[in-house]
Amino acid sequence: MIPLAMVIMAFSAVQRPALASEALAQKYACIGCHQANARLVGPSWKEIATKYKDNPKAAQQLSTSIRSGGSGKWGAIPMPAQPQVPDADIAALARWILSQK
Ligand code: HEC
Repeated sequence: MIPLAMVIMAFSAVQRPALASEALAQKYACIGCHQANARLVGPSWKEIATKYKDNPKAAQQLSTSIRSGGSGKWGAIPMPAQPQVPDADIAALARWILSQK
């Protein structure tokens, strides 16, 4: 039998998209290079959200950057492509990052 606590946890993850995307950032090891507020290997989520806040195509552009990687936008260190992440999860991550202002 599945413990009730696990059912409640799974249910609340579905109900709260922000948390679900934080879990995705952990699952795909984004957090090895990105943090919420401080620059690590890559820019912080907050820096990215601030830079793209007035860009109507931001979600699309960030999705492309996450899928294909990128370089030269933030500094000398390139971001490797993330082909292991499915499109739906990339879109969720891009939207979540843009909400981190
Ligand atoms: C090995 C380290 C590393 C990992 C792992 C990594 N990133 Fe990055 N990321 C970077 C670096 C470095 C940059 C800055 C690249 C540049 O200057 O253009 C970056 C840039 C970005 C940007 C900004 C792109 C832009 O066009 O401005 C986003 C969004 C992003 N990463 C999301 C993610 C997500 C989501 C994941 C997990 C699926 C992830 N990153 C995993 C290092 C990493």
